[in-house]
Amino acid sequence: MSDGNAGKRLRSSGSYGKLDRDGFIHRSWMKSQGLPDDVFDGRPVIGICNTWSEITPCNAGLRDIAEHVKRGVWEAGGLPLEFPAISLGETQMRPTAMLFRNLLAMDVEESIRGNPIDGVVLLGGCDKTTPGQMMGAASVDLPTIVISSGPMLNGKFRGKDIGSGTDVWKFSEAVRAGEMTLPEFMSAESGMSRSPGTCMTMGTASTMASIVEAMGMSLPYNATIPAVDARRKAMSHETGRAIVRMVQDGRTMSQVVTRASFENALRVHAAIGGSTNAVVHLLALAGRLGIELTLEDFDVLSRDVPLLVDLQPSGRFLMEDLHYAGGVPAVMKALEPFLDPTALTVTGAPIGAQYEQAEVWNAEVIRPLDNPVKPDSGIWVLRGNLAPGGAVMKPSAASPELCSHTGKAVVFETIEDFRARIDDPDLDVDETSILVLKGCGPKGYPGMPEVGNMPLPTKLLEKGVKDMVRISDARMSGTAFGTVILHVSPEADAGGPLAIVQNGDVITLDGPGRSLSLAISDAELENRLAVWRANQPPPKYTRGYAKLYVDHVLQADKGCDLDFLVGASGSIVTRESH
Ligand code: FES
Repeated sequence: MSDGNAGKRLRSSGSYGKLDRDGFIHRSWMKSQGLPDDVFDGRPVIGICNTWSEITPCNAGLRDIAEHVKRGVWEAGGLPLEFPAISLGETQMRPTAMLFRNLLAMDVEESIRGNPIDGVVLLGGCDKTTPGQMMGAASVDLPTIVISSGPMLNGKFRGKDIGSGTDVWKFSEAVRAGEMTLPEFMSAESGMSRSPGTCMTMGTASTMASIVEAMGMSLPYNATIPAVDARRKAMSHETGRAIVRMVQDGRTMSQVVTRASFENALRVHAAIGGSTNAVVHLLALAGRLGIELTLEDFDVLSRDVPLLVDLQPSGRFLMEDLHYAGGVPAVMKALEPFLDPTALTVTGAPIGAQYEQAEVWNAEVIRPLDNPVKPDSGIWVLRGNLAPGGAVMKPSAASPELCSHTGKAVVFETIEDFRARIDDPDLDVDETSILVLKGCGPKGYPGMPEVGNMPLPTKLLEKGVKDMVRISDARMSGTAFGTVILHVSPEADAGGPLAIVQNGDVITLDGPGRSLSLAISDAELENRLAVWRANQPPPKYTRGYAKLYVDHVLQADKGCDLDFLVGASGSIVTRESH
């Protein structure tokens, strides 16, 4: 036993420390893996929760990472035990990985609570794996540290850097506009994804990894060290040591993730031009921890924070560039006046100690407060009769001239309806129109897919139109861009006003005024909703996880968690298994 454990009875002792039949069972079966007697001497048992999977390519490097965590745990006197959790590959799972984020959270929560572990290292990366693991771990509240997959190497195509997702959207619109051939488009495919790791733009994975680091839930540089860089292995080794110390110190996740760390994270989110998806993930995480966090907090806390990081999709560079420029610590240093340096980190040191010595090595990539990339960043939260529960947009990725706009609605009832008609030459649409998509919210799809950045009509692309106002109850990829209003709450399928928008209705977006309104009277709105309610079909999902999800999912303004999962149940299990 290492000295740090002296006098402390760990959670795992309830299984491995018993000199009776139950202790025999817990130890004996573990010894089948070749573990010697003395590893059950009361040392910290560290779970390594791994979302490695070959069909989650962004997490394909995590098997190797787990081995480096184990080295650090052994070295610090702990016992590392790796276990799997359902893996969610954003680019592979249908109908959308978001449908299963809460399933992963349930898997992680029950795996941590049910097993004899004292602390846990979460290995994730692809968009939904980080929030799903964090949510599950928060509801148990053991000492917890996150290691992210790390970003892929920068994409390369014809002598230039290209970004995951962002350039897919650009290139596919260029093909439809006749500016790029299909063979050229296909040849970019191999150059875009050159290594394991997450999307190397400031998509949702990079956003969530940056937030994890800004919250103090990982060691420094976790968000930006490229997935295949040897430094990530070294950081994983150090994380193995750190989690053992965290257990010995008795520091739990809820001591690290506080309102102060959320506020720091929301400000960093604005400075990096983070994904809109962080809104639903952080609301859900706060709900698990019982921390008061509202949709408005995203707007209020980011209001004075400009865009400092020049990364795609809001800017030019990629995650490798951000790492070499100084990473999240350098961003936090640049953002210092907005941050609370006293917020705790997993090591027990305040977050300020993590960035106080940081330097910016490339001022093109990380800009100072007095010379930002763009003055407006963060999240705008819009309200009005079209979104009484709120809607979000990302000003840094929008066209300034469209942020205040009035236009006539061109309505699509479902994503299939959209795909069938968007390129119809007879579609009554011009560049002043507002595209409205329904049926893509948490209940409607189900799972709230990333389809809110609807492709523009080909006939307008051919005229040179690059952006239009688009409104939906969907999400969009963190790698996407445009004047896109997302997460309209309540969604159409929950009877929100979005359900009754008709072709030709006039909609006004006032981004600076934070409003989104439909120009019809309250009486007309209510009449249309009454007709809509009277014509609802029977439920589509009658069994399985989809039914559980649709019956219990909260709306986007509450984070899309399942209603019965909000909150925490702690780590105590009183009953034995035999
Ligand atoms: Fe996995 Fe982007 S698809 S991180």
